[in-house]
Amino acid sequence: MEKHFPQAPFAGKRIHLGVCGSVAAYKALDLLRAFCKVELRVTVTMTEAATRFVTPLSFQSLGAERVYGSMFGEGRTGDPFGHLRPGLEAEAFLVAPVSATTLARLACGLADEMLAGQALAWPGSLLLAPAMNPRMWNNQATKDNIAALERRGHLVIAPETGPVACGEEGEGRFPDLRIICLYALRSLSPQDLAGQRVLITLGPTREPWDCVRFWSNHSSGLMGASLAVAAWLRGADVQALRGPVAPWLPPQIQTRETPTAQEMLRTAEELWPDMHLGIFTAAVADFAPIPFGAEKFKKTSSTKGFNLSFQPNPDILATLARSKKAGQRIIAFAAESENLEKNAHCKLQTKNADLLVANLVGGEDCAFASPNNTALILDHNGGLLRLPTLPKGDLAWRILDCLSSL
Ligand code: PMT
Repeated sequence: MEKHFPQAPFAGKRIHLGVCGSVAAYKALDLLRAFCKVELRVTVTMTEAATRFVTPLSFQSLGAERVYGSMFGEGRTGDPFGHLRPGLEAEAFLVAPVSATTLARLACGLADEMLAGQALAWPGSLLLAPAMNPRMWNNQATKDNIAALERRGHLVIAPETGPVACGEEGEGRFPDLRIICLYALRSLSPQDLAGQRVLITLGPTREPWDCVRFWSNHSSGLMGASLAVAAWLRGADVQALRGPVAPWLPPQIQTRETPTAQEMLRTAEELWPDMHLGIFTAAVADFAPIPFGAEKFKKTSSTKGFNLSFQPNPDILATLARSKKAGQRIIAFAAESENLEKNAHCKLQTKNADLLVANLVGGEDCAFASPNNTALILDHNGGLLRLPTLPKGDLAWRILDCLSSL
C-alpha cells in the first residue's frame, strides 16, 4: 500500500479472496498482507491448482482468518456450508489471480469446486484480476467469457502488457498490486461521489529563473494525492494537475503535469467548467522570479551577491472561484505559519470556498512533505472541526466526510 492510501476507514470490514493456479499466486500473499495492514478481515479460498504454487499455511500465517480448499476430501474446512459463507459474511469478493479456467467456470455458472460455488452464491459484483499467458488471454473463448461476466456487472481489472513467466510477451500479466488493492478498497467504500467530476491541484509549482535554477517550495504532493485517491475510491471521476512531484497515482486518475503556476492555471481553466468539485491542495508559488534568461547565470558575474526581482503569479483558486456556478463546490487549503484559525476564517471567505482545510507549515513536523498532517476544517455554514494528527490518507477521507455532510 502507498502511504497516501486511506487505512482507518476499512478496519474491521470483510473481504473474501479467491486464489487460482498461476505463477502469480504468490503475489496474492502480498495482497493479503496489504489488506491486513488496513485491518481488513480476510478469508481465502484456494483452488486445487493454486495449492500447487503456494500453500494454505502461507495464507494462514500471514493473517487469513480462514482458508477454504476443496469442496470434498482433503482440504475441506469441516464446514458443510463453506460454499455459502462468503456470500453471507463478506462485503467484497476478489479473485486474484483468476485463471482462464476459473473465468470459464464463472461465465458458465458452474459450482463444481469450492471457489466457483462461492462465486455463484455471491450476490454482488465480483472483482476479477486475471493472470495468464497472452495467447490464452487473447483466445476468443476467454474474451467471450470476460464479456459475459462484464455484462452481468462483474469487474475485470485489465491485465498488464509485458513479459510473462513463460518468457512470452503480451497482454496477460497480473495487474499492479496497488491497482488491485484500490479496486478492492473501492468496493468497500461509500459511493457518495459517484457521478461527480473532481479537479485536484497538488504539489508545488516550480518557477524558472535561468536555465538551471528555480523558485519553489517543499510540497511533496502527498496531501493532494491522498485526496485524489480518496475521491476515486468514493466513486468520483478524478483529474489531477500536479506540479513537479510524482506521488504514485493509478492510471484511473487522469494526471497532467503542470510545472508552473501559469501552466497549472491554463489547464485548470480549461477543465473547471465541466467539474462538480475543485480541491486545491497545490502550494502554488505566489511569486515568480523575473527570468534572467535562457543562459546559465555565472557566479563570476556577481561575486558580491545579487538581488532578485519577483512578479506576482495568478491565484488559481481565486480565478476559478470567480466563475463558480450553482452545483460546483470548492475545497480550499490554507497553509499558515501562525494564527491558524483566524487566517483560516478569512481565507474561507476570500477564496469563496465551501470547505477550508487549514494546516500549520514552517515548523517541525509541519504539513509539508510529512506523511501526517494536523488540520482544522471550516465550512461555509460556520462549522469547525479540529482533527488530531492523522496520516494524510485518513485525513483526506475525513475531509470528504465533511463535504458529504454539508
Ligand atoms: O504536498 P504536501 O507535502 O503533502 O503538503 C501539503 C500542503 C502543506 C501543501 C497542503 O496541505 C496545503 O496546505 N496546501 C495549500 C498551500 C498553499 O498554497 O496555501 P495558501 O494558504 O497559500 O493558499 C490558499 C489556497 O489558495 C490553497 O488552496 C492554494 O492551493 C490556493 N492558491 C494559492 C496561491 C495561488 N497562487 N494559487 C492558488 O490556487
